[in-house]
This record gives sequence, structure tokens and C-alpha cells, in this order.
Amino acid sequence: MTDDLPPAPNDLTGDLQALKAETDQALAAAPDLRAWDAVRIAVLGRSGKLTMLLRDLGKTPPEQRRERGAALNRLKDALTTAIDARRATLEDAALDARLASERIDPTLPPRPREAGLIHPIARTMEEIAAIFGAMGCTVSDGPDVESDWYNFGALNIPAHHPARADHDTFYLPPRGDAAAANSPPVLRTHTSPVQIRTMLLQPPPIRTVVIGRTYRADHDATHSPMFHQCEGLVIDRDITLGHLKGCLTDFLRAFFGLADLPVRFRSSYFPFTEPSMEVDIGWDRRTGELGKGGDWLEILGSGMVHPRVLANCGIDPREWQGFAFGMGVERITMLKHGIPDLRPFYESDIRWLRHYGFNPLAPTMLHEGV
Ligand code: DAH
Repeated sequence: MTDDLPPAPNDLTGDLQALKAETDQALAAAPDLRAWDAVRIAVLGRSGKLTMLLRDLGKTPPEQRRERGAALNRLKDALTTAIDARRATLEDAALDARLASERIDPTLPPRPREAGLIHPIARTMEEIAAIFGAMGCTVSDGPDVESDWYNFGALNIPAHHPARADHDTFYLPPRGDAAAANSPPVLRTHTSPVQIRTMLLQPPPIRTVVIGRTYRADHDATHSPMFHQCEGLVIDRDITLGHLKGCLTDFLRAFFGLADLPVRFRSSYFPFTEPSMEVDIGWDRRTGELGKGGDWLEILGSGMVHPRVLANCGIDPREWQGFAFGMGVERITMLKHGIPDLRPFYESDIRWLRHYGFNPLAPTMLHEGV
């Protein structure tokens, strides 16, 4: 490696010549930048050999000092040049070695990387939004803590209505004045209060879905104190029961991915709809298979929005009409994916999530039937 070092100035004498030769040799022997740095420090460092020679210049007899000084300066230039050159050589060699060892093979297939998963409830909520979105619905939301009026009163469920007893409501401490104490705030028992909020906020026509948390004091394999509902509301001048049936049939077939899923509408009762209908889908009770067998499974509630509910929101029922529906997000998720128990949805057991979770990169494409 000595060949890339500059030749020693030939006017150096004695000890200086020796230092130059010794340094050249040490540099050539330095295999890497660490060793190179040790040589540099031994020569140019604070107590390096050259530094010492320069410091001793003062001891040189005055008549030789000038010449010795000039020679030392030339030596310093020569050593600095040699040291820098060796560093450049070593750096190039280190880079070559790295390039050789880190060579990438662009023809290798991508290696699978550990990725997060989408929770089945989140996945269902995305699918609901995608399907109703494709039908032209917006997504609306409202607060989890509701007033008695929004959760019950405005929906035509008066104070002593038996429907209230069905809801196992969580009541919260009253806020403010004594009058409010008679109807304390509640954790919303369904997403229906967002119907009221939406109608108060915007004039018809309205096409919207609400997907969110709801609460009831109930806990077993199919009930959780916190669960999710999806609510739909469509208000226009000429909306009929036919629209309701078409919309929900399309939704259920798209969501379950079964183009011929049997869907049945059955007369029922809800205070906020008139007429009201329960919706069933065909399945085999024994195997749990959807779309097969002769059994029916109740899946959601629906109906034409009660004129009193429209009037409560300042909408003239002689001019506007429409339909609404509500369904449980957990329930349709369990049915779609064959999940037998609702409680693990909220237990954050990573093994359960790995089994039922969804690839976050998989698109929500559910256009069958929409
Ligand atoms: N809110 C009802 C419940 O939680 C479900 C429901 C039924 C919502 C009929 C509706 C509807 O909008 O029209 O039990």
C-alpha cells in the first residue's frame, strides 16, 4: 500500500527521515480506520511524536533553529498528506466491503411482515358504511350520553311506555337543575336518537346511516353492556315500504355475500315506526348455515317513520315520509363469520384476534347486489 503514499521529501535528515519512514510503515500496516486513527494520534496527537519535535524546537541552538523549523514544517506536510491518503484508501475499502456484504437481491419475493389486524366489529362497520355508501347514504353520528328526550321522548316512547322497561337503561347522575333531575341523562340504549339529531340538523331529503356504540345493562353469551348498532334513516317525499324492502334486501344480500339469501318481512311493533316490520333471513337452525334450510332468523327492526317522530323534529309529515331501521353490529358479525360467543369481542385476546381478525390491506369490496 506504500505506493499510494507520496514520496518522502528527500531533504529530510536523520530523526525526521526516520519518523517519516516509521509512520509510512505503520500506516501501511493499519488494516482499518481504527488502527489508522491510532497511528494519526501517535504522530499528530497532543503528545504525538511530531508534536513533541515541534515543541522541542525551542531547545534547538538559535543558529540551527530556522532550518530545523522549516524541515519540521515540511515533515508535517508530508505526514499529514500520507495520513489523509491512507484514510481515503481505508474508507474506500470499508465501503467496498459493505457494498459486497449488503448486496440485495431484487428478485427475491417479499418476506411476510408481522402486521396488525382489523377487529371483526370494525370490519363490519366498514362494510356497512361501504354498502350503504354505495346506495348514496351519508354516515351520521351522535353522543353516547343522551338526554331522555332524544333517546326516548322524541322517538314516541313516553315516560311510562313499556318499551322503556325492555331497554335496561343505564342512567347517569342528573345534570344541573331540579327539573332535569326527573329525566337524568342516559347512556344511549340504541342509535335511534341520532335519527332525531339528524332531522333537527338538516332538512329532508335525508339518506343516512349511523354506526356506533350503544349500552344496556345486560351481559351473557349474546349480550354485552356495550355493543354496537347500525341505524338507517331515509326521508323524502315519495319514500314507501317498497324502498325499505328493496334497500334492506340488497343490504343483507351484499353483506352476507349471498345473492339469493331469503329475506322475510314480518309485521311488528316499534313506537317510532308505523307500520313496523321485523326482518328475518333464511338459515338452517341446526348447522347455522345462512341461506339454506327452512328456518328463519330475526335480524333487524324497521318501519315507516312515525308521523309524530317527524313532527317532533319540525318536519311536516304531510309533505315528507320515509323509513328507518336498526340492527345489531355484533349479531350480524357473529352470523357472518360463525362466531358463537359475543364476549371475546371485547377481551382483546390476541389469539382470538389472530383467528377472526382481517387483513388491514384487504379492500372492503362488497358490490354484489348493490
Ligand atoms: N331501536 C331499536 C332497538 O334498539 C331498533 C330499531 C327498530 C330501530 C326499528 C329502528 C326501527 O330505526 O325502525 O331495539
